[in-house]
Amino acid sequence: VVLPLHPRASACGKVILVGEHAVVHGYPAVAAGLPGGVELTAEALPDPRAPIELRIGEWELDLELTATSEHPVARACLEVLGHCDGPVAGWRIRGRSALPARAGLGSSAALTVALARLALGPGAADADVVEASLAGERVFHGRPSGIDSEVAARGGVLEFARGRSVQAIVLGAPLRLAIVPSGIPRSTADQIARVQAQLARLPVAGAAALSCLGAAVRESRAALEAGDPLRLGALMDLAHGVLGGLGASSAELDRLCARARAAGALGAKLTGAGGGGCIVALLPPDRETALEPAAPGSPAPFTVEVAP
Ligand code: PMV
Repeated sequence: VVLPLHPRASACGKVILVGEHAVVHGYPAVAAGLPGGVELTAEALPDPRAPIELRIGEWELDLELTATSEHPVARACLEVLGHCDGPVAGWRIRGRSALPARAGLGSSAALTVALARLALGPGAADADVVEASLAGERVFHGRPSGIDSEVAARGGVLEFARGRSVQAIVLGAPLRLAIVPSGIPRSTADQIARVQAQLARLPVAGAAALSCLGAAVRESRAALEAGDPLRLGALMDLAHGVLGGLGASSAELDRLCARARAAGALGAKLTGAGGGGCIVALLPPDRETALEPAAPGSPAPFTVEVAP
């Protein structure tokens, strides 16, 4: 039985605070949901056999979802709808997003989670929505850790580890983050391979670096719960250094982090796969800290306030 789509659904973007790359190797990571990830609306087309239309202007996406399409977004969306026993024709889906796409802010997971919710309805359990989203995410990443889909579905601040249930983190104080897009594209799969090559070259020190990132996640969780931004900022700086040593950073990301610290951030690091994408900086709770775009014409930095 093919079920109709629901009229609207939304999902968060995500920013990884600490633990990217190590999470691929079984260590935990902490991430926060970003509001405005994606909002979808669906309406039935007059012809129920017409291909599904998907348009998200901000991401320059304008697709027809057909079985022969090679576009990864079209393939991922059809995987999600198929997983949910949803329709594979006859609908017009429109989306809006406040986040840049392909910048490590979880745009693909936001899309697949919102699409799963269009199919499964507002009452669907988060775990079912995440599972449907992962059917689509595998088209993009092969073997995603799942952190993006969990945060897109649940929002808030979460600790995630492969094969364990997610834990919501209760903040001891509001969290003020700035996200600075580098404007440089990157591929998650290539970045994971780069880190993998470095780990193969450094079997002992590389394993110690991953375990250091795991320890930084545990300590960051304690800092988040205690509302201790100085400790959290120091841990973010430490994580950036370790990720750089594993080959995940770049000269431009290093420059953006140094500039954010000089502007008053309590800590700054690459977020997500690295190589390009964005940095995340922890802003002091009591002082306005303005960050400039990475370069003239690159996407504007933005601030996110996460309430306890
Ligand atoms: O695709 P990104 O930039 O959000 O990177 C995801 C983070 C990794 O740990 C590198 C990969 C994963 O699947 O967790």
